[in-house]
Amino acid sequence: MRGAAKAAPFSLGIPMKHSLPDQLLIAADEALRTLSGSASPSRPSPARSQPGGGDQGLSAGLMRVNHTGEICAQALYSGQATFARDPRVRSALLRAAAEERDHLSWCRGRLDELGARPSVLDPLWYAGSFALGLASGIAGDRWSLGFLTETEAQVERHLEGHLARLPAGDLRSRAIVEQMRVDEARHGAMGQALGAAELPPPVKAAMRIASKVMTGTAYYV
Ligand SMILES: [Fe+2]
Ligand SMILES: [Fe+2]
Repeated sequence: MRGAAKAAPFSLGIPMKHSLPDQLLIAADEALRTLSGSASPSRPSPARSQPGGGDQGLSAGLMRVNHTGEICAQALYSGQATFARDPRVRSALLRAAAEERDHLSWCRGRLDELGARPSVLDPLWYAGSFALGLASGIAGDRWSLGFLTETEAQVERHLEGHLARLPAGDLRSRAIVEQMRVDEARHGAMGQALGAAELPPPVKAAMRIASKVMTGTAYYV
């Protein structure tokens, strides 16, 4: 494709498919779709074959946290893909982002079923996560993949915790969280296979703290 291999204007010297202003417009469009709840899934929700159940309290709070986590995932992947150097890395990021879009849509659907709303802080989390995604993309593919792999590992452990906490009778939420856990593990393995760098322990610790703040607030607001 013409221009695909050379640096576009404002691209910080990184080869990009589109110029940086165009790329940021695309990212803004993705942000609006994500935050408006209009993202459509490519796979049907795993909840569809399960009976109803769950409650406005615990189930709604946990699924609101998961929905905010998926808002963050969209923003991170979008930021990272903006500056991915290797086309294989960029297309892997975009493939994983499509699965994250399914997660987002499934969580939003479940929140609607529970009569609950998404977190009011979602735009803030999107902005922060997008900035982090951009920064890790600029740092280079190996670091970006390292960030992705660590994020997915932390999310996988978080989802295991939710499977232990969700009401046993809330089979619809549980089916969604279980499929998400399987997908996140695959995303992490993809990052490893593409050459992820191991992040320094203080960075991992900072990521755990940020995620605690997110999960602690999104449960309530
Ligand atoms: Fe996800
Ligand atoms: Fe993921």
